[in-house]
Amino acid sequence: ADPLRIGIAGLGTVGTSTIRLLDRRANALAASCGRAITVAAVSARSRSRDRGISIERYRWFDDPVALARDPGIDVFVELMGGDEGPAHEAVRAALDMGTPVVTANKALLARHGVDLARRAEKAGVALNFEAAVAGGVPIIKTLREALVGNNIDRVYGILNGTCNYILTRMEAEGLSFGACLAEAQRLGYAEADPTFDIGGFDTAHKLALLTSLAFGTQVDAEAIHVEGIERITTEDLAAAAELGYRIKLLGVATRSESGVEQRVHPTMVPRSTPIAQVDGVTNAVAIDADAIPELTLVGPGAGGEATASAVVGDLADIARGQVMAPFGRPSGELTPLPHAAM
Ligand code: HSE
Repeated sequence: ADPLRIGIAGLGTVGTSTIRLLDRRANALAASCGRAITVAAVSARSRSRDRGISIERYRWFDDPVALARDPGIDVFVELMGGDEGPAHEAVRAALDMGTPVVTANKALLARHGVDLARRAEKAGVALNFEAAVAGGVPIIKTLREALVGNNIDRVYGILNGTCNYILTRMEAEGLSFGACLAEAQRLGYAEADPTFDIGGFDTAHKLALLTSLAFGTQVDAEAIHVEGIERITTEDLAAAAELGYRIKLLGVATRSESGVEQRVHPTMVPRSTPIAQVDGVTNAVAIDADAIPELTLVGPGAGGEATASAVVGDLADIARGQVMAPFGRPSGELTPLPHAAM
């Protein structure tokens, strides 16, 4: 079979890790998918930056939108980030050309998910975004495919690795908020603008996607009550610990009579609960469903390799010819439940 030729826009932590992973697992992927997955072309802000990998063997595009429109690619992989501008334009261009898209861009999907899903469905192509939520944890596949036989009542969890890393180190070592944030940035966990992490907005973007998949509502991040961790001090963490609690930044979506209530805020969780045990950059997503009363997925929520693992999984689905409706059902059936006011 012909190889699946991919074009990658964005060669930061996740983009370069994706190229490495595709190289390392080339044989296994070809065997699993029945065809090879090859990088055909790339685009990034700088062509010459040292990334520890050679990109000379790929066709180069200065403009990600031109890459998205290139007929020489079979899939457009968007790893640039940003909810407006070139990332948005490029994803739209690819879908409108009938080219499937894999993206890790939760901010983009939280803002334009409904429109982009409609474009993907119109073109009959995949819009896969496993890497957008909880890094390497396969929560999108779990909600979209594996749990389709369930009626879901609640989805909640730790969805931002940077915040969990900061809270864990502040609590364990008494380090300052700023020092922990700087370390999370150095390790490549934080967003380009870390306000998205610590202000709770990244958690909200991810929660909006989970809500849509779990409850069949339209993606709506605006409806989420959001509070971040900026004001949490080492004293708060110590006081909570004395009472037998830990403080975690949680995203929670709950079905109620009037609709789905979504919120993001620092939460005191009893130390004995599984979610309280989740340390460092690890994420956890818990699902209460009717056939499976409680299921919790725990794993690396950020970082190049873990996130690349999710991107490669999405590519493998496309290589095998699988096309899922982005939010698990045709958009015509996306019944928006009214969001309860807080
Ligand atoms: N900045 C995000 C986090 C990266 O810390 O979880 C993964 O989406």
